[in-house]
Amino acid sequence: MKRRYIYSVVLTLLLLLSSAVVALAQASITKQSFGKTAAGENVDLYILKNVHGMEAKITNYGGIVVSLTALDRNRAYADVVLGFNDLESYLTKNDPYLGAIIGRFGNRIAKGRFNLNGVEYKLAVNNGENHLHGGIKGFDKVVWTGREMSTPNGPAVVLTYLSKDGEEGYPGNLRASVTYTLTNKNELRIDYSASTDKATVINLTHHSYFNLLGEGNSDILQHRVTINADRFVPTDAESIPTGELAKVVGTPFDFLKATAIGARINQDHEQLKFGNGYDHTWVINGRPGTLRLAATVAEPVQGRVMEVWTTEPGVQFYTGNFLDGSLTGKAGKPYPRRSGFCLETQHYPDSPNQPAFPTTTLRRGAPFRSTTIYRFRMPGQ
Ligand code: GLA
Repeated sequence: MKRRYIYSVVLTLLLLLSSAVVALAQASITKQSFGKTAAGENVDLYILKNVHGMEAKITNYGGIVVSLTALDRNRAYADVVLGFNDLESYLTKNDPYLGAIIGRFGNRIAKGRFNLNGVEYKLAVNNGENHLHGGIKGFDKVVWTGREMSTPNGPAVVLTYLSKDGEEGYPGNLRASVTYTLTNKNELRIDYSASTDKATVINLTHHSYFNLLGEGNSDILQHRVTINADRFVPTDAESIPTGELAKVVGTPFDFLKATAIGARINQDHEQLKFGNGYDHTWVINGRPGTLRLAATVAEPVQGRVMEVWTTEPGVQFYTGNFLDGSLTGKAGKPYPRRSGFCLETQHYPDSPNQPAFPTTTLRRGAPFRSTTIYRFRMPGQ
């Protein structure tokens, strides 16, 4: 009797152990060639799989997330980010930063100018009179050095890039590192770090366009969004902040309760006119520097839910207002207006010229760190 009991306990333990081993064995990371840039640099594609079978494809060109799968309520996977199948398309199409790492400075710097320690720096101007997303050749258009890594949390790829003193007009040699981990909790975790040899400004972010119905499948106007923010950053007609942090209450910018993206997007509101829809930074409640929930997006038909957690002070919610159907995605379907949304965690736009905003200055010897997590789940999970 006793012996049989011991046998069954041992057997159960063995079974548990082997299923854990099988599950863990499913996590993997592989690397394949993704082609060459015009300058002849080799570009790779890393394929990360977690223990549940969720998959991310990430290239060291621009740190772009090329594809990312997530389960719906019927346990069916779909690729939920906009992108292209081949490097050539990223290199040659008028790509609106699909899935890329943005740096050195995400969002706009007015007139491409700022002062630091009494010196005026002039940056590349690439958005009307202003500087946008790091300039003409930002971090989204450079080849990073990639290294795959297996971690207890899931497969990861570490990308590093040295941005030389003067690149796009910025001071200081900046060493940047971005680690993408596809965790076994169904998260795409992004850990950013950087250091400089001379004071500079920094605002790194990630520019995936999500469509929780799968890329290329309709617009995102029925997705229900919650943003954990009492205030947002109003701008002028060129999307440069006025300096005010305005209350969202009573405006179409109030997403404190889950609301469909399309419910108020066409309202007669000056800020919506300036943004062509939503293209603004929200001031995330809670203490910057601590990882806290910034936003939740729920797609009501197939049931995918995405949460965004970050240590950053703000999140730019952009509703793909400038997509116009001229780009065709991975499944061969066009990307019309508002067929993807971005939640770009970051500091507020034009911070180098706004002394009251949280600082984006990075000094020598003081490392920069920031973390953002895109977590996928199903309703009730
Ligand atoms: C950001 C900007 C937008 C637009 C997109 C890319 O979200 O704020 O205005 O430039 O990137 O098209």
